[in-house]
Amino acid sequence: MPDIALFTPHSVRSVTFRNRIWVAPMCQYSVDREDGVPTDWHLVHLGSYARGGAGLVMTEATGVSAVGRISAEDTGIYTDEQRDAWARIVGFLHEQGTVAGIQLAHAGRKASVFREWGPEKGTRPIGQGGWQSVAPSAIAFDGYDAPAELTTAEVVDVVTQFRDAARRSIDAGFDVLEIHAAHGYLLHQFLSPLSNSREDQYGGSLENRARLLLEIVASIRAEVGDDVPVFVRFSATDYADDGWDVEQTATVAAWARDAGADLFDVSSGGLVGGVTIPLGPGYQVPFAEHVKQQAGVEVNAVGLITEAEQANEIVASGAADAVMMGREIMRDPHFPLRAAHQLGVTLDYWPRQYHRAQWRS
Ligand SMILES: Cc1cc2nc3c(=O)[nH]c(=O)nc-3n(C[C@H](O)[C@H](O)[C@H](O)COP(=O)(O)O)c2cc1C
Repeated sequence: MPDIALFTPHSVRSVTFRNRIWVAPMCQYSVDREDGVPTDWHLVHLGSYARGGAGLVMTEATGVSAVGRISAEDTGIYTDEQRDAWARIVGFLHEQGTVAGIQLAHAGRKASVFREWGPEKGTRPIGQGGWQSVAPSAIAFDGYDAPAELTTAEVVDVVTQFRDAARRSIDAGFDVLEIHAAHGYLLHQFLSPLSNSREDQYGGSLENRARLLLEIVASIRAEVGDDVPVFVRFSATDYADDGWDVEQTATVAAWARDAGADLFDVSSGGLVGGVTIPLGPGYQVPFAEHVKQQAGVEVNAVGLITEAEQANEIVASGAADAVMMGREIMRDPHFPLRAAHQLGVTLDYWPRQYHRAQWRS
């Protein structure tokens, strides 16, 4: 077993990750028929990271309902057809020796937008393929159309949607479930006082704002049993006065752990626009480390982690249990194989077909 921290396997419940380099969830806006069914693009996109040696390959934000998709080109996990298409992709990920994770998501007030690279920007109107978005309160995100406020009964329905999505995910073969509570999407909208002005049991105090997330965690845990790792992705701060912050994140992470979550994927921002984010290498690592120390939970760090030595130092120092990578691993899907070479680690999971590429001569 290698003694380089980044390549030390890690176990959560019944699942063992072969290393600590994990693929961050990344929307692809590449569903063809606007039916949420993943395509060959997703097979090759996610499959390339599995082939490249990642310890965990996480899907993009995958809608737990049609209105919960960010764009009409997002994947979903609310129909059996979607489940079956995911099963094929998960099969390939497993064949390559990686762990398959799915990010379960509801976009709330940030739903129904045009895909990122299209000519049109912002909210996709009803009548042009868009739909009415929903949220804890009828407070619009910057420049977007106003969402409809969910009734209390509709909030309870969201718990059911996440639970049903968890069931379909397990049936598709996924090993890890990640609940998306970051980046200004629905669950983050409930957590932050800037987007939640409800007067029922889902608004007001921190306990009330966290209630929906905690009900979802408990419901998913009851549905999937004891073996399956459940992660929660948080934004550790809104970077805004009177918003959600790292102390609230640590408190709710501990509650979520008690409700059945295992590991926290610590990101930041996305709830309000026009804020200054101090971008730089590993800029979110201190948030992950704080949540880990304060709540006594496992975490992964993410955000501008691009170098093998940097990634190894984050894990070796104990700041985080793993790193997630997005843009760098898109640039180089074989980053884990390359990082092993750079750090002098011999791996036994080079793809057989590529074994001659292990040596330079
Ligand atoms: C193309 C793209 C799509 C993304 N989609 C998602 C997503 O679906 N869910 C999510 O939580 N974060 C998403 N993110 C954020 C990434 O998961 C990650 O947190 C962010 O890119 C910072 O990591 P990096 O510096 O390694 O890219 C996306 C980022 C990119 C670049």
